[in-house]
Amino acid sequence: MSKTIGIGLIGFGWMGQAHSRAYRNIPVYFAETGLEPRLVAIADTVQERIELATKNFGFESGTADWRELLGRDDIDVIDVTAPNAMHEEIAVAAAAAGKHIFCEKPVGIEPRATAVIEQAARKAGAITGCGYNYRWAPMVQYTKQLIDEGRFGELTHYRGRFFSMYGRDRLGLLSWRFKQDEAGYGVLSDIMSHAIDMAQYLCGPIVKVVSVKEIFVKERPLPTPGAGTHYDRGKPGDPTGPVTNEDYVGALVEFASGVRGTLEVDRSIFGPQSSMAFELNGSKGAAGWDHEKLNQLQLYLPEEQPTDGFIEVLSGDAYSHHGNFVPGGGNSIGYEDLKTIEALEYLKAVAEDRPNEPSFADALANASVAAAMVRSWESEKWEQVVSLRID
Ligand SMILES: NC(=O)c1ccc[n+]([C@@H]2O[C@H](COP(=O)([O-])OP(=O)(O)OC[C@H]3O[C@@H](n4cnc5c(N)ncnc54)[C@H](O)[C@@H]3O)[C@@H](O)[C@H]2O)c1
Repeated sequence: MSKTIGIGLIGFGWMGQAHSRAYRNIPVYFAETGLEPRLVAIADTVQERIELATKNFGFESGTADWRELLGRDDIDVIDVTAPNAMHEEIAVAAAAAGKHIFCEKPVGIEPRATAVIEQAARKAGAITGCGYNYRWAPMVQYTKQLIDEGRFGELTHYRGRFFSMYGRDRLGLLSWRFKQDEAGYGVLSDIMSHAIDMAQYLCGPIVKVVSVKEIFVKERPLPTPGAGTHYDRGKPGDPTGPVTNEDYVGALVEFASGVRGTLEVDRSIFGPQSSMAFELNGSKGAAGWDHEKLNQLQLYLPEEQPTDGFIEVLSGDAYSHHGNFVPGGGNSIGYEDLKTIEALEYLKAVAEDRPNEPSFADALANASVAAAMVRSWESEKWEQVVSLRID
């Protein structure tokens, strides 16, 4: 396929804008790839967002009707950055229209929808991608390299978490994310999907879980449609509505490799801001990483270090992708740079007509773990992870 790839993007909120900046960055930061994403069309139901996309971001056209994008021959990739409840309808229609598909996590409003989307894309032969951006941090890539080289020995323990501040303010708006009918599950789909992905990326498949959940903030102020994000606040006395999905999920997990672990996520916790993090331990060493300090890795490889205890490794141009953003060591990259790397790797797969990773198959493996957690909430027992794949 040509290196000029036509993009049709659906949903121009936080992620739609972040993905658009990522596409625009590729020819600038990764000129050597020759990739040229073409921002062909944007769809959003809010007119101001269409205007922002066309006037400021360089989209060639905009519409309120996302279906118009599917009939266009100049669009190769449909990028789904609309709310979770729309993922299934859009992705299945995009597969039927013969498009390649990138969909933000969680790829569907609930695990069954992920399976439907994965089946449709697989049968259509679409090259798929999913927004598990934290994988792309150079220090995470380095950790994965050390695991694959056996430098930690046999892995034994894994602790993953995603503690975000976005719901801790009681006046934080009741956006679609806090409603089961619009978002599906709460943190299970929203941020546990990131924690599951990181765990399975680093330690392999999870086979068994026992899990609990809680809603800590039960009412929130009602939002104005099309305005703001889930980080915005209402005022005391504003009309409120009920939060209908969970703020917290915790789980004990067992991996096929025998690793034992914990996964814990919360959107209403005080203290951490965006602590998407892990610690892992093996028979010869250990590592720890936190997105809040994404350019740093805590590393303990006693056989290779002159002193005992953890050392801090600083990211820099010696590590994957980093040098394309900034040369030298200790010059930081940030969250949106991970989105640029994610878009780059996906478009490379599309241009080379080969499968991408992470794909909808990874989203399906992720959703299968989430479904086991849901069963555990109900049974209050350990549950096996069963693949939700539909043949
Ligand atoms: N990977 C990550 O780190 C990350 C972070 C945030 C969000 N996300 C995912 O991205 C997706 C979008 O989240 P967001 O935070 O950008 O949401 P958002 O609310 O900021 O944006 C959603 C956009 O979709 C538009 N929209 C709603 N209905 C539409 C329709 N019928 N047609 C076209 N557009 C429509 C809205 O007007 C809005 O502009 C979700 O699936 C979310 O889980 C991923």
